[in-house]
Amino acid sequence: MTSVLTGKDILHVKDIKLEHISLVLETASRFEQVLALGGRLFNMDGKVLAVLFYEPSTHTRLSFETAMLRLGGHVVSTSQGALASSAVKGETLYDTGKMISGYADIAVIRHMLPGSAQDFANGASVPVINGGDGAREHPTQALVDLYTIQKERGGLNNLAVTLAGDLKNGRTVHSLSWLLGKYGPRFYFVSPEELRMPAEITQALRDDGIEVVETSNLYEAASKSDVLYMTRIQKERFDDLSLFERLKGTYVINFDLIENSKSGITIMHPLPRTDEIDREIDNYEGAAYFRQAANGGPIRMAIIALLTGCE
Ligand code: CP
Repeated sequence: MTSVLTGKDILHVKDIKLEHISLVLETASRFEQVLALGGRLFNMDGKVLAVLFYEPSTHTRLSFETAMLRLGGHVVSTSQGALASSAVKGETLYDTGKMISGYADIAVIRHMLPGSAQDFANGASVPVINGGDGAREHPTQALVDLYTIQKERGGLNNLAVTLAGDLKNGRTVHSLSWLLGKYGPRFYFVSPEELRMPAEITQALRDDGIEVVETSNLYEAASKSDVLYMTRIQKERFDDLSLFERLKGTYVINFDLIENSKSGITIMHPLPRTDEIDREIDNYEGAAYFRQAANGGPIRMAIIALLTGCE
């Protein structure tokens, strides 16, 4: 069956419309219900997903691979693209995209360079998914995050949401702020001065009439928020490691913070976490980050099936 997403790429959050989000979330929910009842899906029977990762990943790569297997399809994969693919011999992403289109029905790529997924897609003739391009975008994580917020909070509209941590380098918060911005949130952007959200993102949200409060005070923001989305300080994006050493540990979610937060606050994190959420918080009922990671399965099943017209 075809839909508005059949044959499309998912490269940039700016191309994702409200109707696309609704379709992905509804399809994911349907798939999740089938699996929960012990059912099996064969939507992608005989089809192949190519997984090309040039940067480390556990959650995105394995959830895409699991998603394809749960849909009855097959996976060809490189997790060591930067070391063990023909990129080492000088092949361009454009050429790799052309070549992969002869092997696979759909592809997901992660790469350290902003714009890399677009370069790959320019060569590819099959649907391409951006699994993270440097510090710029991570659109499928944002869809996982919306699905999680919808399930945890009962809806997406008019929420007060704190995005905290490394807002400069965190591609997940760049993508989530754009998509969640469609649902009339009030945002609190909490970071050290050196790691503020890029000005073009904050300005674009404000131009759309969205209230954005920028602060370094996590306690104040959490006391007013329905959702607190914490991120890791991204060591691998720092040229100056002494700056990373100074900033790491700036924010830690512990029970003292929870006790001073808005009642029932939902805690999210794209994972992996380092030291920014105490493990004691895992037992707090509003700690949603492992449920959020699990939601990567049905969301990525929905994306694969929708882009290939196999939903
Ligand atoms: N959330 C996320 O992108 O995690 P990985 O880097 O492990 O894929």
